[in-house]
Amino acid sequence: MVNDDFYQNNRLFYKSKYWRCEHQNLCYPNGFLNYPKKTYDYFLEVLHSFDTTNNHYKILDLGCGNGLLLKHLLDNSYLEIEPFGVDFLENSILQAKNLLHKEFQSNFICCNFIDYDFSHFPYDFVFLDPYHLQQNEVEFITKVLKHTKTAVIFYTYYDVLENLKYNSVKEFPILKPFMLDSFEHQEMSFAILHKK
Ligand SMILES: C[S@@+](CC[C@H](N)C(=O)[O-])C[C@H]1O[C@@H](n2cnc3c(N)ncnc32)[C@H](O)[C@@H]1O
Repeated sequence: MVNDDFYQNNRLFYKSKYWRCEHQNLCYPNGFLNYPKKTYDYFLEVLHSFDTTNNHYKILDLGCGNGLLLKHLLDNSYLEIEPFGVDFLENSILQAKNLLHKEFQSNFICCNFIDYDFSHFPYDFVFLDPYHLQQNEVEFITKVLKHTKTAVIFYTYYDVLENLKYNSVKEFPILKPFMLDSFEHQEMSFAILHKK
């Protein structure tokens, strides 16, 4: 059962962390002070590890901030990517629509991703940090997988893992029921849930 307090508190937390004041820095709403090229290149590496033969890929970032990660993938991948993003911070979604993804404005939605309707499914790849989920909401992962064509790519940052005393993103309780392949990097941990 969805505990609204959990998401409302998270929303207030991120709003005060990323949007305490108006600013022009496109990295802040994603939790970075400077452009995180190395971090975003890990996502690119994971994406390119798939056997990709289609000519169009729909990628959904659940908790997309202002879409900077998606923009990095779009600009640096050899794949033709159509970006989709959901975030519950209005200012971040406005930046995605007005600055970073003008051509794809209607693909960016402001809501709690728990309530997202996945209206453009199937998505080839979905990015999701399980740290943002209530750990008893396994059905949500099942729902995400249902709307995914190739794989759900879970990720989290090592400072989060360190705080939780986990070694890998796979150790989040909500991911325990699933068979996952993991990729570990110095700053990031990834786990892939393949669509059979
Ligand atoms: C660290 S930022 C990551 C942004 C982007 N994915 C990236 O890697 O650059 C995490 C984002 O997730 C969003 N978020 C967290 N929980 C969410 C939820 N339940 N629904 C929608 N957005 C959420 C926050 O507002 C924040 O913008």
